[in-house]
Amino acid sequence: MTLRELEEGDQAALDRAIAEFAAVDPAWSFAFGYAPGADYASFLARSRLVRGGVDVPSGRVQNTLLAAFEGDRIVGRGTVRHRVTPELLERGGHLGFGVVPLARRRGVATAILRGCVAHARARGIPRALVTCVETNLGSRRTIERAGGVLDDIRPHADARVCRYWI
Ligand SMILES: CC(C)(COP(=O)(O)OP(=O)(O)OC[C@H]1O[C@@H](n2cnc3c(N)ncnc32)[C@H](O)[C@@H]1OP(=O)(O)O)[C@@H](O)C(=O)NCCC(=O)NCCS
Repeated sequence: MTLRELEEGDQAALDRAIAEFAAVDPAWSFAFGYAPGADYASFLARSRLVRGGVDVPSGRVQNTLLAAFEGDRIVGRGTVRHRVTPELLERGGHLGFGVVPLARRRGVATAILRGCVAHARARGIPRALVTCVETNLGSRRTIERAGGVLDDIRPHADARVCRYWI
């Protein structure tokens, strides 16, 4: 598995991964601000600006999107937020990750999260916050396997949120 930023030739792989993911998790955003068939060049340009902290949309923070490739297929993605707001300290944290259904249960999420941690460290983030809802056992186990230490579990909106530091 290779974790890297998206490039110009990756639209077909991204469209396929989004469709695969949406078939089972329609509420989960695989690539913020992009839907299959949309203007990929504009999306890439916006993503690069956001990574550089320029024109960051309201409600979001500077971040880097990393796609997980196996060959020419995207099997998951990670997100590294470069800082956390008070809201993200409650829920959201620095790091996010997801894996397409057909690639689950073989260590991909763990590898993505470890790669995101390395990316965060390289950006000068000594401790990264990772959160998930209490009932998301796959996510919790992934975070723990990647070295996450549970800080606390807090009620948030309609869920109880586990907050881990790595
Ligand atoms: C949660 C998710 C990322 C797990 O991805 P994955 O690639 O299957 O995870 P891994 O193969 O690296 O598994 C890591 C650990 O979690 C366990 N695990 C994975 N899915 C699980 C599930 N549904 N229930 C219980 N344990 C699970 C694995 O068995 C493994 O633990 P082990 O080594 O002790 O056996 C994936 O199911 C997903 O993308 N879900 C939807 C999006 C999401 O919830 N993202 C996280 C938001 S915080």
